[in-house]
Amino acid sequence: MKRVKRRKAQGLQDRYLYDYTFANDNGQNPVMEKAHAYVEHWKEAYRDNTGLLLFGDVGTGKSFFAGCIANALLDRDVPVLMTNFPSILNRLTGVFAEDRVAFIASLDDYSLLVIDDLGVERNTEYAMEQMFTVIDSRYRSKKPLIVTTNLKLEEIKNPPDLAHARIYDRILERCAPVLFSGKNFREEGARATKAAAKEIVSKG
Ligand SMILES: Nc1ncnc2c1ncn2[C@@H]1O[C@H](COP(=O)(O)OP(=O)(O)OP(=O)(O)O)[C@@H](O)[C@H]1O
Ligand SMILES: [Mg+2]
Repeated sequence: MKRVKRRKAQGLQDRYLYDYTFANDNGQNPVMEKAHAYVEHWKEAYRDNTGLLLFGDVGTGKSFFAGCIANALLDRDVPVLMTNFPSILNRLTGVFAEDRVAFIASLDDYSLLVIDDLGVERNTEYAMEQMFTVIDSRYRSKKPLIVTTNLKLEEIKNPPDLAHARIYDRILERCAPVLFSGKNFREEGARATKAAAKEIVSKG
């Protein structure tokens, strides 16, 4: 119990990720079946180094899907880290080179690495270089990686330059693409917020 708690504190760096669980699934996204399947077949996924590339428009539930897998595996005492490149880059900034190397290597200690929101970070040469190092290190570790992104599969398959190609190529080789084509769940949340606000204001 204690160990699972510690793993969660380490692996889920944002508070809201604790709520991305199968128990909180609203049942409106048929693709969630694949998240259950991934957890059920985790042993094979780990053995075969099978990752996932979750892509689709904003608010369609990609991070929720990845968070559910992360939580379910953490509950089974599997070391998982769910993070994103802005956090990784932040962590690497102003750090000595050997500490950078050690930090990037430490990401490969996790049996599953989830990188949320690939493609939102600034495409500076430095950022691209660090991103490549992280993805390439993961690739060579032969451990699974799950990536979520708003990029279209076409964009990932046809990168704008060599720097992107080297990153995307590795992801495409190891991560099975899963399309999120449903509705934007945030619009629903926004409607509920508006209704609640109206209710409160009308009481004034
Ligand atoms: N299956 C689900 N059950 C309940 N809530 C969900 C489900 N899928 C998504 N949500 C909720 O809908 C909102 C949007 O989902 P999420 O953040 O996963 O979208 P996303 O595809 O990652 O969006 P973006 O591309 O902007 O990162 C969140 O508040 C999330 O909690
Ligand atoms: Mg997201």
